[in-house]
Amino acid sequence: MISRRTLLATQAAGISLSLAGGWVRPVRAQAGGPLAPWNVAAHADPRLAALAWAVLAPNPHNRQPWLMRLVGADTILLHVDLDRRLPETDPLDRQILIGLGCFAELLRLAAAQQGIAAEITPFPEGEPQPRLDARPIARITFRGSATPDPLFAVAGQRRSAKQPYDVTRPVPAAALARLRAALLAPDGFGAEAGDVTRLRDIAWRAWEIEAKDRPAWMETVRLMRFGSAAVAAQPDGVSLWGPQLDPMIAAGQLTPAAMEPGQEGWRFGFEQYRAIFEATNAFTWLVTPGNSRAAQFASGRDWLRLNLAATAQGLALQPVSQGLQEFPAMAGPYRELHALLGGGGTVQMLGRIGHPLRAAPPTPRWPMESRILAG
Ligand SMILES: Cc1cc2nc3c(=O)[nH]c(=O)nc-3n(C[C@H](O)[C@H](O)[C@H](O)COP(=O)(O)O)c2cc1C
Repeated sequence: MISRRTLLATQAAGISLSLAGGWVRPVRAQAGGPLAPWNVAAHADPRLAALAWAVLAPNPHNRQPWLMRLVGADTILLHVDLDRRLPETDPLDRQILIGLGCFAELLRLAAAQQGIAAEITPFPEGEPQPRLDARPIARITFRGSATPDPLFAVAGQRRSAKQPYDVTRPVPAAALARLRAALLAPDGFGAEAGDVTRLRDIAWRAWEIEAKDRPAWMETVRLMRFGSAAVAAQPDGVSLWGPQLDPMIAAGQLTPAAMEPGQEGWRFGFEQYRAIFEATNAFTWLVTPGNSRAAQFASGRDWLRLNLAATAQGLALQPVSQGLQEFPAMAGPYRELHALLGGGGTVQMLGRIGHPLRAAPPTPRWPMESRILAG
């Protein structure tokens, strides 16, 4: 059991439970450790040099669903790891595909940084429906020259910041306009700042539905890594680690059982997240006219750009995806969000945006080399 005193101590220490990315914690990149990929290594092959950046892309539940095959001297085939999907909360693999779109765009920016154009061809063997399959998600060819994109400068600082934001500071319209200007498809951009009560209420209700839906919630619990040793063994999913949490985990105070719906760890996370939603004074979202696989993938590319453009302006961003999910219990918030924001299209991403109260730490990654398919 987690004692109330321990919970208060962790709160005082600034630790917050997050559902899809771990506890905010003071940990540093160590050689060979779960954060080592953030110290991006140099590689002679420009594709490897770019892939070392691409694995730092945002992606749902930090599943890191990418697999890459190097073909010839200049091509990468991007595949999805079919075992890294989220069938309960992402039954159509839409969010997993958005994460792969984020990956592809970060790869392209990292190639451009080397002066090389990376040409992205989505679904060269056709669009997978109704779920993703073994066919390539994209063929990416390194050919010709490109100029660096200024957004790349903050790629190492980009985060999904799962924390309360400073609601005493409004998010200026000019900052939102700069986010829009950074996108490949600016017409899909939406944002609201100031009184966001209605949107916040729907997004929070959606969060609550997911947290109380046993199959959906347990999908997250199964991805929790309890303690530094578990995170080192599996540097993905929801990482619960750091100097404050490791002793609690070793003492058996923080366990998978405590995270089950209604249990103490779950209740703690629930209250933390209520406070996080409360501390929100702006939202941003991306809409596509249709909902093709190409549209979902393109949305991911733009989410990465939006996240970088926010970082460049000192703004924090956190996706809040629950209400956009397609599992049956979410039908109500899904309808409400689409009526409010969709304009007849599909809302692909919704995020809180605001001024951070503190720096958000990086999340673990598998090394790029471990995700490359042989042959
Ligand atoms: C499609 C998509 C959906 C996501 N949904 C959520 C979400 O609902 N809540 C959340 O806190 N983070 C969400 N994230 C952020 C991921 O948890 C985050 O990218 C991952 O843990 C890696 O952390 P990083 O972005 O800080 O590198 C989402 C990311 C993507 C790409």
